[in-house]
Amino acid sequence: MIQCDGLVKIYKASNLEVFALQGLDLAVESGELMAIIGNSGSGKSTLLNMLGGLDRPTAGSLTVDGKDMLKMKESELVRYKRESVGFVWQNNARNLIPYLTALENVELPILLSGRRKRLRALELLEAVGLGHRAHNKLHQLSGGEQQRVAIAIALANQPRLLLADEPTGSVDSRMAEQILDLFRDLNRQLNLTIVIVTHDPLLAKKVDRVVAIRDGKISSEMLRRKSYDEELRELEAGHAQEESHVEYAILDKAGRLQVPSDYLQAIGIKDTNKVKLELSDGQIILTPPEKGA
Ligand SMILES: Nc1ncnc2c1ncn2[C@@H]1O[C@H](COP(=O)(O)OP(=O)(O)OP(=O)(O)O)[C@@H](O)[C@H]1O
Ligand SMILES: [Mg+2]
Repeated sequence: MIQCDGLVKIYKASNLEVFALQGLDLAVESGELMAIIGNSGSGKSTLLNMLGGLDRPTAGSLTVDGKDMLKMKESELVRYKRESVGFVWQNNARNLIPYLTALENVELPILLSGRRKRLRALELLEAVGLGHRAHNKLHQLSGGEQQRVAIAIALANQPRLLLADEPTGSVDSRMAEQILDLFRDLNRQLNLTIVIVTHDPLLAKKVDRVVAIRDGKISSEMLRRKSYDEELRELEAGHAQEESHVEYAILDKAGRLQVPSDYLQAIGIKDTNKVKLELSDGQIILTPPEKGA
């Protein structure tokens, strides 16, 4: 669904250049539910905006659903945004109108899009578990319920890809969990590819693959050992829990690797940019440089 190679995004503000993405590689399979984590300013929203066609990459290559996002014409980009992708933001004020009901909020973009093959607004609300609140005004709904309305809207154009930027940033942890469960259901039932950006490592653990961005590049990737269902079954059966994910560092095409700073500290690397690399018994060993090096 997504293939990103050496993706670069440079923002130019007056005389300043900000390298928001610095050669990012990422592949996402069709039907995957995955999360992107990373510190503030690491480039998560920038990446999501590129994937959603809201902004264009500066260099590198990016294809989404078979479309080349760098070569796409403006008119094709407009169609892509309208037909292929759904967006959910943290701040749902960007998605919703407070003085309309839940149902009217979902109907409005459907009417505006004028598409023939459209889902009915009520079906969409039911799909997100909010059928019973359809006639409530937005301000009568909780933050989590409002976020569900936003998700219903994002699904209205029957997208193949759903992008969510901090979708649970403004709700409590119980609600966050419910929203994630909803994403998981949608992923399964509609075979929808979903990419979620989050700050919350606990939330990220609920998906099968978590990719960490650091300084505009993928730095590590965590893969789930067992499926989430399998894990839940074991939990219910009362079995002891091992760590749910295995973490891998990411090698770039030139063989470069980012070593976490606490690892470097632990082996006493400081005031130097050199490490000794040795191959031993099929393992690679990193040690601090000899004195004077
Ligand atoms: N429109 C813009 N113009 C200039 N610089 C920008 C613009 N948008 C983002 N940046 C810069 O690009 C870098 C990456 O920003 P981005 O919004 O992608 O980070 P993020 O990982 O989403 O952070 P957060 O977790 O705080 O949302 C930051 O240094 C940011 O200041
Ligand atoms: Mg952001």
